[in-house]
Amino acid sequence: MQIDKLRRIYLEFFKQKGHTVIGSASLIPENDPTVLFTTAGMHPLVPYLLGQPHPAGKKLTDCQKCVRTTDIDDVGDTVHLTFFEMLGNWSLGDYWKKEAITWSYEFLTSKKWLGIDPKKLSVTVFAGDDDAERDEESAAVWRSMGIPKERIYYLPKADNWWGPAGMTGPCGPCTEMFIDVDKIPKCSPECRPGCNCGHYVEVWNDVFMQYNRVEDGTYRLLGRRNVDTGMGIERTAAMLQGVPTVYDTEAFVPLVKRIKELSKRDTFSDTDNVLIRVVADHVKSAVMIMADDRHIAPSNVEQGYIVRRLLRKAIHIADRLEIAPGFMNELAEIVIRMFEKVYDEVVRNRQFIMENLTGEEAKFRRTLGKALRKFDRMFAENGKVTGSDAFLLFTSFGLPLEMTKELAEERGSVIDMNEFRRQFEEHRETSRTATEGKFKGGLADHSDEITRLHTATHLLQAALRRVLGESVQQNGSNITQERLRFDFTFQRKMTTEEIEQVENMVNDVIAKGVAMEHTFMPYDDAIKQGALAFFKENYGEVVSVYTVPGFSMELCGGPHVENTGVLGKFRITKQERIGAGILRVKAVLEPSS
Ligand code: ALA
Repeated sequence: MQIDKLRRIYLEFFKQKGHTVIGSASLIPENDPTVLFTTAGMHPLVPYLLGQPHPAGKKLTDCQKCVRTTDIDDVGDTVHLTFFEMLGNWSLGDYWKKEAITWSYEFLTSKKWLGIDPKKLSVTVFAGDDDAERDEESAAVWRSMGIPKERIYYLPKADNWWGPAGMTGPCGPCTEMFIDVDKIPKCSPECRPGCNCGHYVEVWNDVFMQYNRVEDGTYRLLGRRNVDTGMGIERTAAMLQGVPTVYDTEAFVPLVKRIKELSKRDTFSDTDNVLIRVVADHVKSAVMIMADDRHIAPSNVEQGYIVRRLLRKAIHIADRLEIAPGFMNELAEIVIRMFEKVYDEVVRNRQFIMENLTGEEAKFRRTLGKALRKFDRMFAENGKVTGSDAFLLFTSFGLPLEMTKELAEERGSVIDMNEFRRQFEEHRETSRTATEGKFKGGLADHSDEITRLHTATHLLQAALRRVLGESVQQNGSNITQERLRFDFTFQRKMTTEEIEQVENMVNDVIAKGVAMEHTFMPYDDAIKQGALAFFKENYGEVVSVYTVPGFSMELCGGPHVENTGVLGKFRITKQERIGAGILRVKAVLEPSS
């Protein structure tokens, strides 16, 4: 079965079961400083999993674009990818284990749908621990479907729990479904689902979210029960097509084929074949990130740094495979064709993607040779590359840290990361996110600080439009505990007077203590009434709208304060131009005197 069909029938199946189909949210999480990318279908739905009503109802289904950089080192094996699509269905306080498992079973095995032989299905359930009980309820549902006891495995939290490890947010036990791959025999008598030998392929994960992990590390009952499921489209397609890896499906075959044609080589070793997959994966991911309406260009920070890292790695490999410059644009055309009917943004942002690919390749090629020679000299001198060397290679020669690490590892050496980090932090307060744990995954933070700054962001946008004109459009937003950051379209810096005017206007609304209103309405009505919409692709037909009467109206999932009076004093701390026509403003809320 082809991917397009799998995507279509999955959504159709859940529509028939009373779910509303919603579009994929952006790959860039909105107002969530804890992660760089949307890493799973549930990520954009966190506010609703925590209890806010979703405008499209309590039963949802979608196909979500995802990026996971945690898997970057495994790319090129049989299943791991950085960009992938995840099919999912949700119960927001509606159905529970019995329905979720019964539907999963029906979709997988019914001849009308995927028609997989039930004998090939194994499942895992949560074994239980001090935090939560053993999931006998799910096991019983599986048994009632006819899954024999020997094919139901009880596994601990490390395997059968989904949610924020070490972080706060909705979470719970899960049950995972695996299909036997006949062509790959079990690696040992102990081989079981979760083993990486390739015999068992995980195709679906049903998460039963009934807990909220709170700041002291304990698990509290959420007060209602949600279901969050995820099916990786590429690996399920590979299984259905009977091909050994995701790279043998139409999600990659045209890319791999073109990469081989572009190479001057005629034959490829096994190592080369893995490298070819890495190039295909990395260019595809970078294209999909740049296709986002937020216009993420390659840079040294945050999401832009990931794009840079992916592209530079692809260029470095392409050189090894004797592929001529310009190859990324050719591959991008293939990616755009692959997705043009699924995600409009790839077509809309085609020019941005192409220009940045060309620009980044040219930039990197100017320094790559020099960087590699410099690396060799450093290594020859000290027998290793120090943290400061890595920092110099990064800042002056544009060599991503991860590439330096790999080059060092190839020579049996490691880099002193602490030293690198020290230098990095001295130079750039924002860099931390790009170099370490920020892409580990995490969930939206709905603390008071974040919520207040979220509301302040709405007030700021409304004030900017009043002072600077209606051409002001949100281009990006990011909130941490300490500050808000707001990027918008504007051709120059603001004058001191304009900044004061904006601050005063926001502070007036705060001083008035206006009650915020939250309503749901059809998208078209909201726009007609003047609501600001960040990016259309995020929204379903019925949308959630937050209003500060008389001042601001925006499509937004929240959360927001109830009354503007609690915000404190609003102050703009910084403005900088971050690209042609985009101005970035940082602002804080201080206790009012
Ligand atoms: N959130 C779950 C996952 O990503 C479904 O596997």
